Amino acid sequence: MRQHRIAVIPGDGIGIEVVAAGCRVLEASAQRDGGFALDLQPFDWGSERYRRTGAFMPADGADQLRRFDAILFGAVGAPDIADHLTLWGLRLAICQPLDQYANVRPTRVLPGIRSPLGALDPGDLDWVIVRENSEGEYAGQGGRSHRGLPEEVATDVSIFTRAGVKRIMRFAFETARARPRKRLTIVTKSNAQRHGMVLWDEIAAEVARDFPDVTHDKMLVDAMTVRMVMKPQSLDTIVATNLHADILSDLAAALAGSIGIAPTANLDPERRSPSMFEPIHGSAFDITGKGIANPVGTFWSAAMMLEHIGEGAAAARLMRAVERITADAALHTPDLGGQATTDAVTAAAVAAILGDN
Ligand code: NAI
Ligand code: MG
Repeated sequence: MRQHRIAVIPGDGIGIEVVAAGCRVLEASAQRDGGFALDLQPFDWGSERYRRTGAFMPADGADQLRRFDAILFGAVGAPDIADHLTLWGLRLAICQPLDQYANVRPTRVLPGIRSPLGALDPGDLDWVIVRENSEGEYAGQGGRSHRGLPEEVATDVSIFTRAGVKRIMRFAFETARARPRKRLTIVTKSNAQRHGMVLWDEIAAEVARDFPDVTHDKMLVDAMTVRMVMKPQSLDTIVATNLHADILSDLAAALAGSIGIAPTANLDPERRSPSMFEPIHGSAFDITGKGIANPVGTFWSAAMMLEHIGEGAAAARLMRAVERITADAALHTPDLGGQATTDAVTAAAVAAILGDN
């Protein structure tokens, strides 16, 4: 029997609710499969721990995670704690030391879901956004001086390294090559940002030479928002910087029907460290504790995790269960215009997995 050790970090708010749901479908997946077992180890890291101890996770937290095969994450963020403290104190404190440099965000309109773009044929909106996840605008370089004085100054410096850009471009071209359309759009802003973004473009062109079978084009990020809305079928795989892809992927999630559905993987493609899987949404204070958070983004993320740890059959089974749920309007949570609860959706997913043949 194959054994996989999974670190489970629910975090805050609805993160706790959707990760509990995700663990139920993972356990059902292992039970139905019969070929593997999951050791799901919970960690109480997050804002509650910060209030108690002054730290979101222990100082050796990232090292503790190295012993696992993968990480399932919920969300972090609390109304009484500044968002830059929570993000840097937990999520980035994991992604950065574990060098999970490729953030992968598949987006498509699942059966039964209505896109705000109206009636789309399957395949009209079927994208993978690859986000640079280790440097760029979120490298953490910068500072504040003369605090509170009239001459106060603050800087956030974007960092683009040849090594960092090259590895994400190679990963993006490989991702595009593995998909039927073999098409990559490189998002940039090299008209206004004339150093880092120009290096980004140059390295993209260099890497493209190694992938003659992949068609590629270049888009300025502002024009990209228009193209995503007006010509979604012209896009397939997309690569963008940390900031640009952060914004574009929320737009993508909305175009695919709801942010509650969208999954993400923070990958170390070289597998030196465990990768981390999470819904793209945050802790959603407005619906915390109401039992109505959409768990589908976590289920899809869990399917990506199963795929990553080599359980492709179980991943496919879980995605079939997800598509059966979304196809049934009675199983839509309020973010999709329905009235279903997290629990009802989860029970239906578990039943679909166990009944799948
Ligand atoms: P959010 O994603 O938490 O919520 C935005 C809106 O979408 C809310 O109206 C919420 O109810 C709805 N929503 C989100 N997920 C949903 C789900 N699964 N089902 C149904 N509705 C859902 O983003 P917001 O409000 O900007 O941030 C709230 C907190 O979460 C902040 O502290 C923020 O820093 C944090 N955050 C954390 C992230 C992470 O841990 N990866 C990502 C994004 C935000
Ligand atoms: Mg975001």
